[in-house]
Amino acid sequence: MSDKIIRKIQSFVKRSGRLTEGQKYGLNDLWPEYGIDPIVDKIIDFDTLFEKQQDVILEIGFGNGDSLLQMAINEPERNFLGIEVYEAGVGRLINEAHKNELTNLKVIKEDAVEVLKNNIANNSLAGFQLYFADPWHKKKHHKRRIVQNEFMDMMSNKLINNGFVHMATDWEHYAQQMMETLESHAHFKNTLSAHKYLPRPERRPITKFERRGERLGHGVWDLIFTNEK
Ligand SMILES: C[S@@+](CC[C@H](N)C(=O)[O-])C[C@H]1O[C@@H](n2cnc3c(N)ncnc32)[C@H](O)[C@@H]1O
Repeated sequence: MSDKIIRKIQSFVKRSGRLTEGQKYGLNDLWPEYGIDPIVDKIIDFDTLFEKQQDVILEIGFGNGDSLLQMAINEPERNFLGIEVYEAGVGRLINEAHKNELTNLKVIKEDAVEVLKNNIANNSLAGFQLYFADPWHKKKHHKRRIVQNEFMDMMSNKLINNGFVHMATDWEHYAQQMMETLESHAHFKNTLSAHKYLPRPERRPITKFERRGERLGHGVWDLIFTNEK
């Protein structure tokens, strides 16, 4: 057996800072209503988790949560599960979900890769959303990008047949990597023709990072694929 210490590669840097009263209220008082604490190796049962049994859409890295909140409001016929490690964003989203009396949104505050591996059943997700994932600009950091072949293999297993993957980024090199990774995968099919990106679909609200990119003059690339197993 190797005696090497295996270090996990993380796709995020933990951001900390002072929390507002609203964020604290979301993280503490409202946690039992909206938060999930995954138990090691225990699959989360979506049928008991959500009030209504309907399609579950997973979003990783929702940031301050405003765009995910808007989607959950706009699409009551779907359940949404958001995974984010940024405490202030988690607190804010929960607080806003409560104000809007949402019953189709739940939140996990852990590393999404670990949660997917340990707690999400295969063939259980109708969709996967990844908006403005950390681009890790420097070449030596590209291995930290969450979109990699192994990660997409896992996503394909977690998604139902014909489930969708929707990604958006404002970093052209990462957009190309997403396109190559998805197009070279046996199960993912571009909903447009080969190598084609689409303009932001109406269903996806503009995110905080997207606005920041716009101010810096960045472009935006959206990709939507289906999982055909
Ligand atoms: C660049 S921000 C984008 C936030 C938001 N989607 C937006 O567009 O405004 C990326 C977010 O992904 C989160 N993140 C990255 N890797 C993650 C992981 N493995 N699990 C959970 N959250 C992750 C980070 O904490 C960060 O808030």
